[in-house]
Amino acid sequence: MSTIRVHEQGQGLPLVWIHGFPLSSRIFEQQLSISGVRHLVPDLPGFGGSDPGRIERIEDYGSVVAGLLRDRGIGNAVIAGVSMGGYVALSIARDMPDIARALILIDTREVPDSEDGRANRLAQVDRVELEGTRFLVDEMLPRMLTPETRAKQDRRTELVRHAMEDASGEGVRAALRAMAGRPDTGQALRAYDGEVLVVVGAKDDLTPPADARRMASIAKNATLVEIPDAAHLSHVERPEAFNAAAQRFLGRLR
Ligand code: MLT
Repeated sequence: MSTIRVHEQGQGLPLVWIHGFPLSSRIFEQQLSISGVRHLVPDLPGFGGSDPGRIERIEDYGSVVAGLLRDRGIGNAVIAGVSMGGYVALSIARDMPDIARALILIDTREVPDSEDGRANRLAQVDRVELEGTRFLVDEMLPRMLTPETRAKQDRRTELVRHAMEDASGEGVRAALRAMAGRPDTGQALRAYDGEVLVVVGAKDDLTPPADARRMASIAKNATLVEIPDAAHLSHVERPEAFNAAAQRFLGRLR
């Protein structure tokens, strides 16, 4: 049996935080001060402290999240996902809307990869096989946080670097294949009845504000928050702005 590590903290409305690629639960350290919620923060299979398990599709991560709620007797939870975690959140909204009390979609998008994007991911699978994951840290870290934040070399950059360094080669390869094959979840987002908070860093060039605006425009009940001076990991880079928006949103759900 493969082990999934889950950090749990607080009491109240259950809230699952799903990390992005190639990261881990560490990236939500600064969100744990959000009050009135029961935080559930898993390391997805193959990342952080979790075993790789058998992941072939984005939906497989969704099943892991559903399993951890089931194991704890939790009927539904707010599902918050960053980037790849957002792809997982959207797959849950499509396949298991009953367990998604609301969605928080952070620096993510509902559209699948382009042909070039897919080819690039599959080339990265081969490169990880040959070289390991170091090159991904070097390539991706500069896109996660703005240069101004990275220059400060504080806890935020450290969190992101450590999260990336925890990823296993097997976990990274499985995630790259799963992301390359992920479906369009636009229709699922249109059909979803719950409340949706869409958050994006104004300087995110991986999943830019145009993606967030499109998601907010197609969801039935969406609130859009654009965070200035933040790149792809807006919740890490500007935790005070992100947490205030999330706290307001969660307050409205109760
Ligand atoms: C992530 O942060 O999860 C990745 O940038 C997602 C992606 O590569 O599509």
